[in-house]
Amino acid sequence: MTTALVTGATAGIGAAFARRLARDRHDLVLVARDADRLRRQAAELHDRHGIEASVLPADLSTDEGIGAVEKRLSDPEHRVDLLVNNAGFGLKGAFLDVPLADELRMLKVHCEAVLRLTSAAVEPMKERGGAVINVSSVAAFFPRGTYSASKSWVVQFTAGAARDLAGSGVRLMALCPGFVRTEFHQRASMDMESLPGWMWLEADRVVDAGLKDLDRGKFVSVPDPRYKMITGTSRLAPRNSLASLSSRVGRRNGPKRGR
Ligand SMILES: NC(=O)c1ccc[n+]([C@@H]2O[C@H](COP(=O)([O-])OP(=O)(O)OC[C@H]3O[C@@H](n4cnc5c(N)ncnc54)[C@H](OP(=O)(O)O)[C@@H]3O)[C@@H](O)[C@H]2O)c1
Repeated sequence: MTTALVTGATAGIGAAFARRLARDRHDLVLVARDADRLRRQAAELHDRHGIEASVLPADLSTDEGIGAVEKRLSDPEHRVDLLVNNAGFGLKGAFLDVPLADELRMLKVHCEAVLRLTSAAVEPMKERGGAVINVSSVAAFFPRGTYSASKSWVVQFTAGAARDLAGSGVRLMALCPGFVRTEFHQRASMDMESLPGWMWLEADRVVDAGLKDLDRGKFVSVPDPRYKMITGTSRLAPRNSLASLSSRVGRRNGPKRGR
């Protein structure tokens, strides 16, 4: 039996990872801030699939939270074979409308936590193999504020580290989904009603496609042909037109004020 640690495991893409990995008979360590929700989820996955699911409540926007997960990943008594760095969130509003403290919190969760947890996981994995999936986004390929920049960092960091570790038995992959139906947009108070239906993906399918790409040895996975085409085109388009397109799609809801 192998063990997977999933951050942001209680909702959306992280919960889909937890379901799929439990079905595949991995024991789980589930990380998020809401301890009650984590415990309910762990009990349900244990009852349904007969796996061991433990919970590790942690806020990855704090040093204490990141430190607690680092400690678990480095524990020689309890190995972790697969790390999924998935926890993340969106912010509504254009540059300067979003409070700087929120942007810094995003960098902590999307970049610092991913760097520190990947480092903590990979060190012991070098002895006996393992894998890390860092959840990025199609937004990584479009200029759109700190969210896109942080997800772009995830892609570049992960692909670079994957190259450095090639042949070591440790695989790394950045997963870049398009729009996925989760709690993400609602939590950020984004009104997504005008997004065409064809642009929405289902979390379970994103996870299935991502795990398939990990098995194929990809460093970067863009699940779904529609988004493969969009990201392919983005590499050819001028940066200014990409910025205005992503600004229209992503920030049409206007700035979030008064927080
Ligand atoms: N939905 C999309 O369209 C989409 C597209 C591309 C990429 N993504 C990326 O996919 C990842 C998962 O997003 P999702 O759509 O599944 O969002 P979601 O449904 O809102 O779930 C987010 C998860 O992250 C946890 N989380 C948030 N902040 C945290 C923190 N500071 N510390 C620890 N856990 C935290 C949440 O639990 P608690 O609140 O209990 O902590 C929850 O389990 C994110 O990295 C996101 O950027 C999403």
